[in-house]
Amino acid sequence: MQNALVNFPDETASQERCAVVRLALTDFRCYAHLRLDADARPAVLTGANGAGKTNLLEAISFLAPGRGLRRARMQDVTRSDAPVDESPGALRWGVASTLEAAGGAVEVGTGFASVGDGDDGGRRVVRINGMNTRSQSALSEILAVVWLVPDMDRLFMDSAGRRRRFLDRLVAGFDPAHTTRLNEYEQAMRERTRLLRDDRAGFRAADAGWIAALEQRMAESGIAVAAARRDFVNRLGAACKLTAGPFPAAGITLVGDAEGWLDHGAALEAEDRFRAALADSRTADREIGRALTGPHRSDIQVVHLAKNCPAAVCSTGEQKALLISIVLAHARLVALDRGASPLLLMDEIVAHLDAERRAALFDEICAIGAQAWMTGTDQELFEQFGDRAQYFRVDNANVQTV
Ligand SMILES: Nc1ncnc2c1ncn2[C@@H]1O[C@H](COP(=O)(O)OP(=O)(O)O)[C@@H](O)[C@H]1O
Ligand SMILES: [Mg+2]
Repeated sequence: MQNALVNFPDETASQERCAVVRLALTDFRCYAHLRLDADARPAVLTGANGAGKTNLLEAISFLAPGRGLRRARMQDVTRSDAPVDESPGALRWGVASTLEAAGGAVEVGTGFASVGDGDDGGRRVVRINGMNTRSQSALSEILAVVWLVPDMDRLFMDSAGRRRRFLDRLVAGFDPAHTTRLNEYEQAMRERTRLLRDDRAGFRAADAGWIAALEQRMAESGIAVAAARRDFVNRLGAACKLTAGPFPAAGITLVGDAEGWLDHGAALEAEDRFRAALADSRTADREIGRALTGPHRSDIQVVHLAKNCPAAVCSTGEQKALLISIVLAHARLVALDRGASPLLLMDEIVAHLDAERRAALFDEICAIGAQAWMTGTDQELFEQFGDRAQYFRVDNANVQTV
C-alpha cells in the first residue's frame, strides 16, 4: 500500500494526465488576444514583474468553478482598454481551452457576458464542447484545479474563511459533487437570512413554514458538506503521512459543530441536531444577520507532524513547505482516485526553495503526472526539470515558447 502510493508509476501517470493543451484569451486582464499551444508536460512561465504570468495562471483557474485565484470581481478581469459592448451576450472577457482529460479531449470555455443592463451587468458563462451549461459545477466533473499563490503564505494565520475555501477546493478536486452541495447549502442559508431579516416583527406563520423548509435544506446539504470534508480529510491524512522527501508531513483536523455531530452519531442524527440548532437560534441569527452555527463556520487545524507543532507557529518557510506538502498529497490522492491528477497552478513557488527542495518538487510533480503551471522571474531555478517540462517566456503580454 505504502509503495503503491509513494512510487506512483510514471507510465500510468503520463497516460492519464489532465492537461491544458490549448489556451486562448480574449480581453483578459493585460491580454487583448492570446493563443497558446502546449503539451501535457508541466509548464514553466518566466518573465519580468508585470509581464502577465499570474494573469495567465488566473485564466486557467477560471476553468474551475468560482472566482479564480484572485477572487476577482468579474468586471475587473476585463482588459481595461477593451471596447465596451453592452449588447446582450457579448463577451467582456473569455478563456477558451482544449483539455486533455481522463476521458479524452474536451473543449472548455468560460467568460463574462453582458446582460445588457448597464456598465457592470454581466453573468459568467460556461461552455463544454460547444454547449452552454447552466451551472459552473459541471466544470468540477471534468477537471480539478488547485493553486498556490504568494498571498497564501499566511493561510494558517489568516481567517478561517480562507482556509475553508482552500479545503473546499481540495474536496471538490477529490469529489466533484462537493461544489453542488456547497452551492445548495449557501443558497438555502442566504434565503433563510433574508427571510429572518425581512420579518422583524416576529415570525409570521407563512414565513415560519418556509424558514423551517430552508432549515431542512440547510441541514441536509450542510451535513453532506461536512461529511464530504471529513471523508476527504481522513483520506488526505493517510496520504500526508506517506510523504517522503523534504516536504514535511501535515496532520489536518477539522474543527466545527457539524464535524462534532458527525463524530458522535450517524448523518441523520447530525441533520436532526443541526436542524434543531437552527430552529433554536432564529432570534439570535436575525439579530446578527447570519447563521451562527453550521459548516460555514468550520475550520481546519494543521500540524507539522515531525515537530508536533501547529502550522500557525511554524516559520514562514515551514508553513510554505506544509502547504506544498498538502497540495502534493492531494494531487497524488486525486490521481489515484479519479485517474487524472489536478492541474496545479504554482505562482512564484520556487523562489524561496533551496535546490534540494526544488528538485524534490519537480520530481514529485512528474511522478504524480500533474501538469503544473509554474511561474518565476528566473528560468535557471527550473533547470532541474530539464526536458520533463516545457518553457514559455512572458514579456509584456506576449508569450513565446522557449
Ligand atoms: N483588467 C486589466 N486590464 C489591463 N491590464 C491589467 C488588468 N488587470 C491587471 N492588469 C495588468 O496586468 C499586468 C500583468 O500582471 P501579472 O500577470 O500579475 O504580472 P506578473 O508577470 O508579475 O505575474 C500588470 O501590469 C497589471 O497592471
Ligand atoms: Mg505574478
